[in-house]
Amino acid sequence: MIAVHSIDETRAAVCTARVAGRVIGFVPTMGFLHEGHLSLIRVARENGADFIVVSIFVNPLQFGPSEDFEKYPRDAKRDREALEAASVDVLFLPPVEVMYPPGATTRVIVSEVADPLEGDRRPGHFAGVATVVAKLFNIVQPDLAVFGRKDAQQCSVIERMVRDLDVPVRLVFGETVREHDGLALSSRNSYLSKEQRALAPALHRALSAGADAISHGIHDVEAIEKLMRKMAAETPGIEVDYLAVVDPLTFRRPADFHHDVLVVGAVRIGKTRLIDNICIRKSAIPHAHIE
Ligand code: PAF
Repeated sequence: MIAVHSIDETRAAVCTARVAGRVIGFVPTMGFLHEGHLSLIRVARENGADFIVVSIFVNPLQFGPSEDFEKYPRDAKRDREALEAASVDVLFLPPVEVMYPPGATTRVIVSEVADPLEGDRRPGHFAGVATVVAKLFNIVQPDLAVFGRKDAQQCSVIERMVRDLDVPVRLVFGETVREHDGLALSSRNSYLSKEQRALAPALHRALSAGADAISHGIHDVEAIEKLMRKMAAETPGIEVDYLAVVDPLTFRRPADFHHDVLVVGAVRIGKTRLIDNICIRKSAIPHAHIE
């Protein structure tokens, strides 16, 4: 593995690989890597990539002023070892001034799908994500790029951006990796104390209750959301931000249950904010309309 810090070095390494006929797979990350990130590298290979580029960049643009940019967990040495062990070819570690030189004021704004839920709670977040991902795509120019489904709205925002801007990349989404008790892996889980960690699976339990209701034919969105809130309330110490049933294309209430639907949630445990979701595939939704 080579570790590079500049755009030119990254482009040169990728160019050499492409000339040699390699298929470039890209996994953008903010580091503090866990099994979820490593699974995305495997997904890239399963989808035909044989030259893997991983970026680690804690993107200041996607953090609000009162968010955790400064204290976002970082462990460069451990990340590097994990990526070596995963036989990654290029690790791109750009400094902030490489990604955002003075005077860089252009932003990529995706509207509609980026507006509700996370977009509403975190103003500017998806503009930060879309801008950095667009830049990273222009730098790496991968054949395919892999993102984790845990950040479901992010996946939809990036999909929309790629479609709207005709970005020549194939997007692949990797399944969420969970702990034995259902907690989705996230770098932010490291903020949780032992006591808080014990509360955290309540988010997945609430979402599972919603997903079960949908796959048992209940299509009353308000009733499902109420059920999820009731489940979450069984765990004191969890503060619900939202628990919602949404259409994965719009992140608004589904017009009907004839397509895939998502149950999505965000909770706070102390100062830590966790998000998660479960997709209920169309094939798992009975046609009965129990209201
Ligand atoms: O999901 C993340 O880790 C980040 O939002 C991403 C896609 C690397 C952009 O900074």
